[in-house]
Amino acid sequence: MLRLLSGSARLAGVTGWPVAHSRSPRIHGTWLNRHGIDGAYLPLPIRPEDFSTVVPALAKAGFAGMNVTIPHKEAAFAVCDHVDEFARRAGAVNMLVFSERGIEGRNTDGYGFIANLRAHGVDPAAGPVLILGAGGAARGIGAALQDEGAKITFANRTPERAAALAMAMAGEVLPWERRAEALGDYALLINTTSLGMVHQPPLEMDLSHAHTSLAVADIIFAPLETALLRAARERGLTPVEGLGMLLHQAVPGFSAWFGVTPVVDEELYRIVAA
Ligand code: ATR
Repeated sequence: MLRLLSGSARLAGVTGWPVAHSRSPRIHGTWLNRHGIDGAYLPLPIRPEDFSTVVPALAKAGFAGMNVTIPHKEAAFAVCDHVDEFARRAGAVNMLVFSERGIEGRNTDGYGFIANLRAHGVDPAAGPVLILGAGGAARGIGAALQDEGAKITFANRTPERAAALAMAMAGEVLPWERRAEALGDYALLINTTSLGMVHQPPLEMDLSHAHTSLAVADIIFAPLETALLRAARERGLTPVEGLGMLLHQAVPGFSAWFGVTPVVDEELYRIVAA
């Protein structure tokens, strides 16, 4: 059905450079249609050198806010008048809200990760958590898990980065080489590295030491089922796929910009996965 915008339509979007690969317009577009909202969500390619001038200009042009993706997640701090605690702890902003109070930066990645775990029936604090990787994604997810009361261990190729995150989050460090043999000590395994993504090397991860109750989460969603998640499924473990995190992290933004709290369901998953 054709939906026409009025002169008071609410506007939001996603900015990245490039932004063409983003699935966010599909997510928000599905919800806008579903709720019959007078609004639009657009891809906004902004060059890094233009970010600090274009974003405040969009706020002045009446946008309600935007999502921020690679490579702007750290630069976004500089345009914010306020940032929430999650963005500060994650060291990255993934959504902006424009209001009369100025530009507010938030980070909903950790929220999305936890909401996706719960949607799969996984309790984030059920037992010790092993996080593979110590980059930006590990930082946001680690902070959210810490808030849930989880006991976290980081294993990373570069041990200094794992040690820095463990220090910040009262966690522990496991040598990268020991990640497979130590797996029996954990209730939840999370891949936050880029290994296993399309065009990247595979993640070498032997699951044979896993407890039968292990849940295995991957933040990668291309492919939808990574080799890690396939191996987990084939062993009868609980796989938690990365696309769900992307869908759930979008909920707070939609709610802030368009005034309706949307739901993540099978239909949305199918549309965005296609
Ligand atoms: P992001 O912010 O998206 O998390 P990042 O900071 O570049 O990205 O982190 C990528 C993660 O994947 C890091 O933990 C990185 O390990 P290093 O800290 O040692 O660089 C991990 N990673 C990338 N390629 C890897 C590889 N070939 N083997 C092991 N770990 C790898």
